[in-house]
Amino acid sequence: MSNVLLAASGLHTYYATSHVLRGVDFHIDRGETVALMGRNGMGKSTLLKSMLGIVRARHGSVQVRGADFTKAPTHVIVRQGIGYVPEGRGIFPNLSVQENLVMASRAGADGGCHWTLERVLATFPRLAERIDNGGWQLSGGEQQMLSIGRALMTNPDLLILDEATEGLAPAIAKEIWQIVREIRSTGIATIIVDKNFSALLPLVDRAVILVKGEVVYDGAAKDLRERKEFVHQHLGV
Ligand SMILES: Nc1ncnc2c1ncn2[C@@H]1O[C@H](COP(=O)(O)OP(=O)(O)OP(=O)(O)O)[C@@H](O)[C@H]1O
Ligand SMILES: [Mg+2]
Repeated sequence: MSNVLLAASGLHTYYATSHVLRGVDFHIDRGETVALMGRNGMGKSTLLKSMLGIVRARHGSVQVRGADFTKAPTHVIVRQGIGYVPEGRGIFPNLSVQENLVMASRAGADGGCHWTLERVLATFPRLAERIDNGGWQLSGGEQQMLSIGRALMTNPDLLILDEATEGLAPAIAKEIWQIVREIRSTGIATIIVDKNFSALLPLVDRAVILVKGEVVYDGAAKDLRERKEFVHQHLGV
């Protein structure tokens, strides 16, 4: 059996007449951690949304574990074991922390229920302290933790974090990175989008860089360390 969990090939995505993804190939293996990088507006979120069917690619295909999901609706794709934390987060402000978590709960694609409410609260002690607070009462960092917690409650094989630490204070961002490290050690595959290149790189196996809707790099994260000029050119860091 192939090791590829999620793959896209030849994706072309448009918003009206604006051609945003220009033939993107992307894949992630089981248990792998991949950074998806690129400057603002290069198509990172659009690639994630195109693979999840939130935005429809005009050309190209999407496979989950080798099966074709190109035309499948989003809820069917995510039921294959994908937890998605969108940019700007996705929590219910009118529900409590506990309700947010419990509502998201379901068995994974293999029927496993490894992530219980107790385990998520043990992973995020800050959420345990605020269990009865409304989503709207949480700080930005706590909302991000709740979004990740909600994704874990679906027992995913793949977690997708779009802008994992955007707008968070450095100390809170550090907590999020620590949690990502913990999640990685459990064997869940993760795609992470984040502007913090130096925090992200040591955490991932592989990096993919998008420039104007095209992949300009797909390779070992550690190899990027020596390519300072290339990184500066495409990421501005
Ligand atoms: N719903 C939309 N309608 C029209 N254009 C859009 C829409 N969403 C994104 N775009 C445009 O598509 C391009 C790619 O956007 P996308 O959000 O995928 O970039 P990104 O790499 O995620 O950027 P950022 O780092 O700012 O999140 C940008 O030019 C953006 O303005
Ligand atoms: Mg984005």
